[in-house]
Amino acid sequence: MPDQQLRIDRCVCHDVTFERALEVAKGRSLSLDQLADELGCTTGCGSCEPYLRRCLATGQVVFHEIIED
Ligand code: FES
Repeated sequence: MPDQQLRIDRCVCHDVTFERALEVAKGRSLSLDQLADELGCTTGCGSCEPYLRRCLATGQVVFHEIIED
């Protein structure tokens, strides 16, 4: 259930916004693994990984729900 109070828009560990990650990934056709090597996102706590996966698949860069898978 979306919660507008909740705003998840970045990899907190590496302070990389999903918008920036998407830009980098799209510009150079990077996979999630390549993006992780490049920007560090997903290599800390890993909790941004499902968001980044969805971000790359759909272009969504701001989330209002918890995604755990
Ligand atoms: S939030 Fe991205 S690795 Fe922790």
